[in-house]
Amino acid sequence: MGASFWLILVVVNDVAAFMPPQQSSPCEVVQMDVFCNDKNLRSIPDKLPPGIKKLDLSRNLLQNLTQEVLAVYTSVHHLNLHSNKINFIQPGIFKTLTNLQVLDLSRNNLDAFAALKKDVGRLTSVESLDLSDNGLYTGMSDYFLRDAPALMNLSLDGNSLTKIDKSTFAGSSALKKINLHNNVILEIKEGAFESLSNLSELDLSMNSITCITDFNLSQLKLLNLSKNSLELFQAIDIDTEYELLYLDLRENKIPYFPVLPKMNRLMYLDLSRNRLRGVNISDTAEESSFKDQDGLSKSISQQDLSQLLYLDMSFNQIRSLPSFFFDRMMLLETLNISNNCLETFSVGHETPLNSLKTLDLSFNAMQNLSFEHNTLLSLESLYLQGNYLSSLDSSIFSRLPHIRELHLQQNYLTICESQPQVSHGCVSFSSMPTLQYLSLSVNSLEVVPQYAFYGSPLQVLDLAGNPGISIHKYAFWGLETSLTLLTLKENHLQSLNTDLSVLINLRFVDLSINRLTSLPLLNKDSSIEFLNLRNNSLVTLEYNTVVVLEGTLKTLYVSSNPLSCCSNPRFLNMVQASNVKIPDLASVTCLDSKNVEINIANVLQDHCKTLDSKSLNILIVVVTSVGLIVVLVVAFKLCHMKRRRHSSSFKA
Ligand SMILES: *[C@@H]1O[C@H](CO)[C@@H](O)[C@H](O)[C@H]1NC(C)=O
Ligand SMILES: *[C@@H]1O[C@H](CO)[C@@H](O)[C@H](O)[C@H]1NC(C)=O
Ligand SMILES: *[C@@H]1O[C@H](CO)[C@@H](O)[C@H](O)[C@H]1NC(C)=O
Ligand SMILES: *[C@@H]1O[C@H](CO)[C@@H](O)[C@H](O)[C@H]1NC(C)=O
Ligand SMILES: *[C@@H]1O[C@H](CO)[C@@H](O)[C@H](O)[C@H]1NC(C)=O
Ligand SMILES: *[C@@H]1O[C@H](CO)[C@@H](O)[C@H](O)[C@H]1NC(C)=O
Ligand SMILES: *[C@@H]1O[C@H](CO)[C@@H](O)[C@H](O)[C@H]1NC(C)=O
Ligand SMILES: *[C@@H]1O[C@H](CO)[C@@H](O)[C@H](O)[C@H]1NC(C)=O
Ligand SMILES: *[C@@H]1O[C@H](CO)[C@@H](O)[C@H](O)[C@H]1NC(C)=O
Repeated sequence: MGASFWLILVVVNDVAAFMPPQQSSPCEVVQMDVFCNDKNLRSIPDKLPPGIKKLDLSRNLLQNLTQEVLAVYTSVHHLNLHSNKINFIQPGIFKTLTNLQVLDLSRNNLDAFAALKKDVGRLTSVESLDLSDNGLYTGMSDYFLRDAPALMNLSLDGNSLTKIDKSTFAGSSALKKINLHNNVILEIKEGAFESLSNLSELDLSMNSITCITDFNLSQLKLLNLSKNSLELFQAIDIDTEYELLYLDLRENKIPYFPVLPKMNRLMYLDLSRNRLRGVNISDTAEESSFKDQDGLSKSISQQDLSQLLYLDMSFNQIRSLPSFFFDRMMLLETLNISNNCLETFSVGHETPLNSLKTLDLSFNAMQNLSFEHNTLLSLESLYLQGNYLSSLDSSIFSRLPHIRELHLQQNYLTICESQPQVSHGCVSFSSMPTLQYLSLSVNSLEVVPQYAFYGSPLQVLDLAGNPGISIHKYAFWGLETSLTLLTLKENHLQSLNTDLSVLINLRFVDLSINRLTSLPLLNKDSSIEFLNLRNNSLVTLEYNTVVVLEGTLKTLYVSSNPLSCCSNPRFLNMVQASNVKIPDLASVTCLDSKNVEINIANVLQDHCKTLDSKSLNILIVVVTSVGLIVVLVVAFKLCHMKRRRHSSSFKA
């Protein structure tokens, strides 16, 4: 064996010795694509196969792009020079690369080249150019863009431009998409983009723009101005149809609703994280130039947003919204007004918002909420958490024919028994055939009455954080086949008198942070896979419950309970066997027969046997002592008799 090993080693060594010297090209060739990335190259390899289409030289150490080598590869369509150290480009080098369509020069040192004030020359056929992360200052991009007739897609992301001049894009008039994200743009000169008749996407996010007035780029489809310092956005007042579909104004300092193009087809408007206090389009003190049909100056936005699908005004300071604000938003599907200061919200039949699918009013200061009949007919998800809702019309949610999710946590609601004849400040959650998700956690709920959810096929029910809640025996009646997740965490429950095993599809149960001393018995229909029993008063689990759980349980949390190590060996066995995952096992302790706290994973049979052997010892001692006494007594009696016999014989 040792001999053959040496033989193989010698052979391998010989083969290596006779290999031809390493190939001149370290690159990987896959059909017409050549990958020379991450190779510490200082120059472009010169013996690549002819006719290559794609050349990836990213993440190398190239510094100078000179004619000699590159000019050979005229067939290249896609040249990737991302993450090199390029600081010099021989002017005119790209002129001869007549097939080059995609050129990636991102993450280089092109500011050094631009400082030489030389043009790269004509980008004959380049359609997509990436100049991101090159430390370019204002005006430096000109040296790359002066003669780029085919350029459609340009990225200048992550540079240091402060101003866009009228001339900046003059040499690249075919541009469709410009990315100027993450610069320090303060100023855009009039006419900088107007000549780009095909421009459809403009990303100016993360800059320092304070004000857009006379917005005139009717050709744009997407305008991203998020993360600037905008205080004003105003379109020019002309009868031109704008193509704009997406307008992102998130994270600015806008105090008034923007003045949008008069004729627009806007679908998506994000105004979140601004300083809106309402939907006034200007300061009421100052006359607005925006007039409605009657020629009256309007102060509240009532613009044509008839194509709008998505409106996000979350994280502002809006106190109230006039209902006519939504008048023309017939197609609106998503409305997010979370994290504002609304005290009330109502939907009336004049503005029924019947296309709305998602309504988020969470984290406001709402006390009142009303939806009239035949409104919100498409609503599926309603977010109302973090408000002050207490007394609502009891059938307010039952009237929503497509409601699927109700997020009502952190309010002060009360649950009605099914089909209340009269409402007494409670809200009904029964007979809602589309409802699947309901959270009523942290509502100071006192009772969950019987049949509370009857006729509502809930899959998820969250009742956590209602300390002292009393759950009626038949509270979950009607959820037998639908419920899969139930949370009763942090409720101060001392017992649970509902039979969880009738909920035959229940797989996820959270009973943590309660005061349960026992689990309700489970029968074999139970299908619980995840059970959280952390922080209760459990000493053990019933033998039969353990038998049922063994068949289905995958994950169990059981730490922070006064468990006994020995009272149910089957439970101990389940915990110690590896087929149930116990993520908190390291902190699950129990008391052994000597009342010593030990980690449950370390419990051995001996810990529980000690009690038996000790009593056995006592028993042995007792039995032995009794036996000894008996023997002694018998011996004494015998002795006595003998003596008597002796004496009698003596007498005789
Ligand atoms: C790059 O070109 C400059 C002059 O243009 C020259 O000084 C320098 O040595 C060249 N560097 C490399 C790595 O070829
Ligand atoms: C434009 O360029 C960016 C980055 O270079 C790229 O991710 C994107 O796919 C390109 N888009 C088109 C339409 O070529
Ligand atoms: C704009 O796009 C159209 C269609 O793609 C094209 O014919 C036209 O030449 C482009 N305009 C410019 C200025 O490149
Ligand atoms: C706008 O840009 C930000 C990045 O700054 C991005 O997260 C957001 O998705 C963009 N918005 C749109 C509508 O594309
Ligand atoms: C708006 O743009 C059009 C061309 O798109 C131009 O004719 C008009 O003069 C511009 N108006 C202003 C006020 O810049
Ligand atoms: C909005 O305008 C109305 C008058 O149209 C005025 O009463 C109200 O105070 C204004 N709200 C804000 C926040 O400026
Ligand atoms: C509403 O906006 C907030 C904050 O931007 C966000 O966290 C939440 O997910 C949004 N709501 C919906 C339903 O998308
Ligand atoms: C809420 O409604 C009650 C009566 O239903 C009314 O007294 C109260 O003023 C309303 N609160 C708000 C903020 O509209
Ligand atoms: C159990 O939960 C209560 C309430 O959250 C907490 O105060 C206590 O520290 C927890 N006990 C343990 C042992 O984790």
